Amino acid sequence: MSGAATVRPRPTVPAGAPTAPVPTGARRGLEIRGLVKEYVPGQPVLRGIDLDVAPEGITAVIGPSGTGKSTLIRCINRLVEPTRGEIRLHGEALTGLRGRALRLARRRIGMVFQEYNLVERLSVMENVLCGRLGYVPVWRAWLRRYPAEDIERAFALLDAVGLPDHATRRADALSGGQRQRVGIARALMQRPELLLADEPTSSLDPKTAVEVLELLARLTAEAGVPVIVNIHNVELAKRFAGRIVGMAGGAIVFDGPPEALEPVHLRQIYGGEDWL
Ligand SMILES: Nc1ncnc2c1ncn2[C@@H]1O[C@H](COP(=O)(O)OP(=O)(O)OP(=O)(O)O)[C@@H](O)[C@H]1O
Ligand SMILES: [Mg+2]
Repeated sequence: MSGAATVRPRPTVPAGAPTAPVPTGARRGLEIRGLVKEYVPGQPVLRGIDLDVAPEGITAVIGPSGTGKSTLIRCINRLVEPTRGEIRLHGEALTGLRGRALRLARRRIGMVFQEYNLVERLSVMENVLCGRLGYVPVWRAWLRRYPAEDIERAFALLDAVGLPDHATRRADALSGGQRQRVGIARALMQRPELLLADEPTSSLDPKTAVEVLELLARLTAEAGVPVIVNIHNVELAKRFAGRIVGMAGGAIVFDGPPEALEPVHLRQIYGGEDWL
């Protein structure tokens, strides 16, 4: 680690705190130890990642294309199976879980995607309610019979993301920025204990990207949900994250607050200097 910096997560505002209550002592955040991922045996993409993420604030992961940022995020929610290592959320192992235990663990982790991953032919409201799929019995979701409190909360979240009048529109009728707002509402609908975002603004214009990140930062701070966000735009990472993790070659080479990230670190992360 070349960033001498200590980690300083952003302070959060405990407004509304919609996360499931976790005993204070148990809120240890995310602990990753010795995480290795080899898609091809003997060719590690992640080379023994150790990372602790506090149970609050935004952590931005930056690094060149192909360095394993998405792999890291996907190992956390087990969309990708880690080859070795341990991942714990508030002390509970996420690695090694199967079946129902894995489904229960996954619903604790919200996800926001670059390409939004909405169900295009469903309404905005139904997409937000999809965030409850891990909670309601399948037959209820299938019959679209969500509890009244879920529907109330979905409306409140649509309000919070600035789409109060869009509940009945089809997802495919929305702009990219609106879709990502729905993606954020859906993730929060899950009442996650951790939110993972993989390039959430890469498909958006610069102004919309800032607006979406502002929204993500505000709502997750209010909810007390920590965020790990993969992001290519270093300026945006510095603006919105309290902590920057720089990856290169499948390892962490910088870890510290945005103000500690100097050109020397960027050269180490991205290589070369002509582009600086
Ligand atoms: N499913 C897969 N099977 C085999 N190799 C994969 C798979 N997914 C990713 N890889 C390889 O793992 C490496 C890391 O990929 P990953 O997508 O994690 O990088 P990234 O840092 O997210 O890149 P980008 O910034 O372009 O999104 C790359 O070499 C990629 O080709
Ligand atoms: Mg990626």
